Amino acid sequence: MCVLKSGILLVLVFVSTELVSEVDGDLASMVDFRYFRCVMKREWKCPDSEINFFMYTPEHPHKHFVDPRYPKLLRDFGWKKTRKNVLIIHGFNGTYSKTPMTYIRDAYLSRKDYNVFMVDWSVLTRFPCYLSALSNMKKAAQCTAQLYSAITQAGALAKMTTCVGHSLGAHICGMISNHLTEKQYKIVV
Ligand SMILES: *[C@@H]1O[C@H](CO)[C@@H](O)[C@H](O)[C@H]1NC(C)=O
Repeated sequence: MCVLKSGILLVLVFVSTELVSEVDGDLASMVDFRYFRCVMKREWKCPDSEINFFMYTPEHPHKHFVDPRYPKLLRDFGWKKTRKNVLIIHGFNGTYSKTPMTYIRDAYLSRKDYNVFMVDWSVLTRFPCYLSALSNMKKAAQCTAQLYSAITQAGALAKMTTCVGHSLGAHICGMISNHLTEKQYKIVV
């Protein structure tokens, strides 16, 4: 019975990856594909206006927009090298500004030893656009890797950086390391 169940599960996973790659193949253009409320990212350039980052610090627990192209600005916004860093990524139909992500954010902030970064890719992972959300994870990971590099350039050590993801956000945490040369950062699912 157990064997049978896991057999079925494997098949389902296989079918859904098949679907994604078929969709990818058919829409191989450089223009973002939009339908209903959905968008499928086709352009592989970061930063992207639909993937945004916000920093929170213990002294300034309100969001501060971060542009990863300017790592030097982090310090001006209150980022501290002596603190650890956490990247928090929401999942399907989620947003950085609602539960459960705000609980996770506030838990890290209350420790006082973390710079907290929230990743906002809500427009790219809206219900019911699950296939586009799956496809957009790659782009979200690519752009978040750029944020990670900015934090490193500002002086953070890789071992002081953690990625926390909820549902599809956890997959993005995993995919970020594909874009990095130094693979020793922590992932919390
Ligand atoms: C998706 O998110 C919206 C807005 O937060 C919510 O109203 C809706 O119930 C969610 N849909 C599903 C299927 O979870």
